[in-house]
Amino acid sequence: MTQSPSTPFISSPEEVAALREDLSREGKKLVLTNGVFDILHVGHVRYLNEARTLGDALVVAINGDESVRELKGPGRPVNTASDRAEMLRALRCVDLVVVFEDRRATAIIDAIRPHIYTKGGDYSPESLIDEEKALLDRLGIEIRILALVPGQSTSATLAKLSGEDTRGRRIAILGSGRGSNARAILEAAAAGSLGGEVAAIFSDTKGAGILEVASEFGVPGLLLDPGTEKKGRLTDASLKELADRLLALGIDLVVCAGFMRVLRDPVLSRFRGRILNLHPSLLPRHPGLNPVAKTLAAGDRETGCTVHLVDSGVDTGKILRQERVPVLENDSLESLTSRIHEAEHRLYPDVIAEQLSHLP
Ligand code: GAR
Repeated sequence: MTQSPSTPFISSPEEVAALREDLSREGKKLVLTNGVFDILHVGHVRYLNEARTLGDALVVAINGDESVRELKGPGRPVNTASDRAEMLRALRCVDLVVVFEDRRATAIIDAIRPHIYTKGGDYSPESLIDEEKALLDRLGIEIRILALVPGQSTSATLAKLSGEDTRGRRIAILGSGRGSNARAILEAAAAGSLGGEVAAIFSDTKGAGILEVASEFGVPGLLLDPGTEKKGRLTDASLKELADRLLALGIDLVVCAGFMRVLRDPVLSRFRGRILNLHPSLLPRHPGLNPVAKTLAAGDRETGCTVHLVDSGVDTGKILRQERVPVLENDSLESLTSRIHEAEHRLYPDVIAEQLSHLP
């Protein structure tokens, strides 16, 4: 799980264990946090300083290079694990840095057993993955969620470095359901980590939760008349109306988040390469309706979620990124859906930020 130290800046599990024991003996507390910390910015520094004040020593667990590639895409990390560790160790608030190769932090938390575990403010204790939460509860580790610094994120830094002004990028979200993904996107926008703003939320369903989410965040929630009772369809007139409204709003990126109708021209042609969809399976497996039920019925051991570009097919466009979710022995439709949602809430805002930073 941990990588043996290859530089003086990366500590071994034994060194961390020794630090923990020394602290415990003196009734002092070890704080652990984890993350990628690819390009250090003031948001990181303030977060780490605050984490350090919660206890008497701070250990930062950073993802190894391979797991960063898996999590963030082939262009990352910008800096190697040993360089990231060296930068972090130069901060007065950081005592030790360890590297872990898993996508999840569960094993490293279990190995280090800190007194306090901190996460950035885009997580709430409820949105920690089940496995992590169960372990922290079992070990009696205190969980502290620290606020992120608005406008300070690695994606925003990368966008600035690439010379693009993404502050004015405008997103429209389309959804038919309760809007938990819309909420995650709006939270990322509020934290400044999206590189754009949500200009409007469209729903084909009167009274849908996603419209309430829109009003909660002060974003226009707009009803789209599908023009037909037929499931999954929008009439030509409705599609034309949608394309016109998106253009009038100056939308740069269209984001489908649980939108249960198929998009066609003129929306597709007007927004080619700029429409994203989220699907709760590892496409191309289980496209279309009820993918989670199909996953369970097929006895799959693993599923996940996919973000892809929208083309004229149903869930057939180019896959941008996926996150895997294991199927557990006793999973019900509800429990599996809820774990996929957790993965979606992490994945979608991140992919949207990446797409916005690449827009011409
Ligand atoms: C999400 O799980 C999304 O993947 C799925 O609808 C849910 C919407 O939840 N989308 C599809 O099935 C599209 N084919 P939300 O309204 O809470 O964001």
